[in-house]
Amino acid sequence: MTQRCHELGGVNLGQGICDTPPPPEVLAGIEPAVRAGHNAYTRYDGIDRLRQALAGKLQRDNGIQADPDTEIVVTQGSTGAFVATINALLNPGDRVILLEPYYGYHLNTLKVAGLEPVFVPLERDTMALDVAAIEAQAVGARAIVLNTPGNPSGRVFSRAETAALADLCQRHDLLCITDEIYEYFLFDGHRHISMATLPGMWERTVTMGGYSKTFSITGWRMGYLAAPAHLAEPIGLVNDLYYVCTPSIVQHAVADAIEQLNADFYRQLAADHQLRRDRFCTALERSGLTPRVPEGAYYVLADCRVLGQSTAQAAAMVLLERAGVAGVPGSAFWHDDSGEHWIRFCFGKDDATLDQAMQNLEQAQL
Ligand SMILES: Cc1ncc(COP(=O)(O)O)c(C=O)c1O
Repeated sequence: MTQRCHELGGVNLGQGICDTPPPPEVLAGIEPAVRAGHNAYTRYDGIDRLRQALAGKLQRDNGIQADPDTEIVVTQGSTGAFVATINALLNPGDRVILLEPYYGYHLNTLKVAGLEPVFVPLERDTMALDVAAIEAQAVGARAIVLNTPGNPSGRVFSRAETAALADLCQRHDLLCITDEIYEYFLFDGHRHISMATLPGMWERTVTMGGYSKTFSITGWRMGYLAAPAHLAEPIGLVNDLYYVCTPSIVQHAVADAIEQLNADFYRQLAADHQLRRDRFCTALERSGLTPRVPEGAYYVLADCRVLGQSTAQAAAMVLLERAGVAGVPGSAFWHDDSGEHWIRFCFGKDDATLDQAMQNLEQAQL
């Protein structure tokens, strides 16, 4: 889609790259880190100051109490956190529950590690967590992957959903690997709930996060995880083996920014994206591509049946040709044909890009 979009000079809302500018506080930290000569490998689990800053943030924003010395690992993006976690804690052939729609890297990373994904869809219309369906697949599974706020679903799981899942994890002795990278992208007063804070869950949860999205620094590769020491230690060893460390200057700059930015920054981030969501969803609605209005993250699934195609792939191509707007076919997020009437758009874009996309949709004859 990206290649074809480029050929046609369209607006690419396909890839999940946020192109809003990083906060000045983040950029300001890089040059001093270079000048200070932070050129060497760091401790495998990250520099002290960053782990301490993360421990503070986890306590303040998530309600997670993690010991910065033994329970936090700085990783190469949250992607690196996931790779290190599944390779450290799971064995080839283990069954891992993956909720659909899923984030493609979760599925493919599981597959490359020789794990067996067990697909459980969210409820079809509401995209609610279908605990009975998960229960039916839980026997014999080792782990479940959770992503809230969700890409591409836009779901922010409620306390009741999270509690039901926590109960299930404990009854079936499941490890919970939770990807919370969009934790600050919350709309309409939805609250982010970290699974690790539910009674009995800290011991069996790996909480993954990162600053790719929050600070718009996808290429800096800055992520982390929090987990009890008995899980964090083996994950840290695998992280060391695969990645050695996260780029040292990035660690310093991000530590600076976490220390400097206060709650206003995170509130504004959510407010800005809610505005983008509202404007873009209105444009989709007007063009007949009915959106499933997201509660969080910066993606929206839109119903593409108005385009009259039999597959999401064909619909996405037709939309690109008729309107000059690229999205990702929904078939990328389900293992069966459940995604065929969706196209996913990313609205984590600068105003000029989003305005152009909305103008294209408005002018197009779909
Ligand atoms: C759900 C989810 N997890 C992880 C990532 C990647 O994060 P990182 O850049 O920290 O590796 C993305 C990026 O699109 C994502 O959507």
